[in-house]
Amino acid sequence: MKALLLAGGFGTRMRPLTERLPKPMAPVGNRPWLEHLIAGLKEQGIREIVIAVKHYPERIIDYFGDGRKLGVDIRYTHEPVPLGTAGAVKNAEALLGSRFVVINADIVHRADIRALVETHERSGAMVTIGLVEVADPSQFGVVEQSADGRIVRFVEKPPRGEAPSNRINAGIYIMERDVLQAIPAGREVSIERETFPSLIAAGHRVQGADVSGYWMDMGTSDRYRRIHWDLLDGKLELELPGRELGRGIRIGEDTEIAQGAMLVPPVLVGSRVTIGERAVVGPYAVIGDDCVIGRGARVTHSILWDRCTAAEAAQLNRCIVGSGLKIDPRHLLHEAVVNVIPEAETI
Ligand code: GTP
Repeated sequence: MKALLLAGGFGTRMRPLTERLPKPMAPVGNRPWLEHLIAGLKEQGIREIVIAVKHYPERIIDYFGDGRKLGVDIRYTHEPVPLGTAGAVKNAEALLGSRFVVINADIVHRADIRALVETHERSGAMVTIGLVEVADPSQFGVVEQSADGRIVRFVEKPPRGEAPSNRINAGIYIMERDVLQAIPAGREVSIERETFPSLIAAGHRVQGADVSGYWMDMGTSDRYRRIHWDLLDGKLELELPGRELGRGIRIGEDTEIAQGAMLVPPVLVGSRVTIGERAVVGPYAVIGDDCVIGRGARVTHSILWDRCTAAEAAQLNRCIVGSGLKIDPRHLLHEAVVNVIPEAETI
């Protein structure tokens, strides 16, 4: 079975981090989330992958190529104009088989795809939608199901206390090829707002199936941060580079920590990082590869992507810092989300 990964959105809610980067390429634990996702699919026996790209497609294509390095086969579909979540599926028609899995590539999860396929087969549905339970569904599209799990209705952002259930669309679908006939070609189509409701209205079986394991929609900078704290707390399990230096402290290769510097767990430090004297890193800090943390600098509750510098005595608290950004000496940043245009790019 092939997987189609939707990775073409503009990621407007996660700007400026996604200004020049597809959201699924944002690192989670110092590795693009999309790489974790593909590795997870491979573990589950899915090796044929199609990625629907649009926003900065070269950032994905240059990184993964044909997928050989990861031991999978990757093809790409391109959209001249954004086609939306269902339009992107229709656009991939020529590359898809008789049954396939579609995944919103910006959702961080450890879903068991095989369990979804089993439910799908048992119910004989045209589409099976992975569902997750949330405490407050008022910000989501909620599903109403019949006793046998069939979805009968979607309710978009129900007022508190009026939701028919706490179950929301997890952005993971098992689809029969027939679904493609229900999606008009050449225009923007939303899978949640158009395709699924129209399939239900036409009497097709749309099944709901609970997704087990970790699940979090990356969506916003706040949620992106939460994913990292979950990773550091062990709630999200991913294969991470580096080695454990102590309980809750993980560092990469060739990283140098000066005497008198302090790593306060939980903390994850990448490879080839230099941490200066009396610097304090953590608790809750993720430092990307090739970063420099200057003398006396402090980085707490923050995520630094690759090649960042927090110069001498700089202090960062609750920040997210894009690749290659330099924070000057003694600068104080609190709750900042900052990014920089790569030098190689023309302005
Ligand atoms: P926001 O602009 O912040 O809403 O983010 P987004 O553009 O990523 O939208 P959303 O979170 O709703 O998208 C869910 C998933 O579908 C993400 O993985 C997107 O990359 C992907 N996606 C959304 N729209 C399109 C599209 O028009 N084409 C393709 N190929 N993928 C899309």
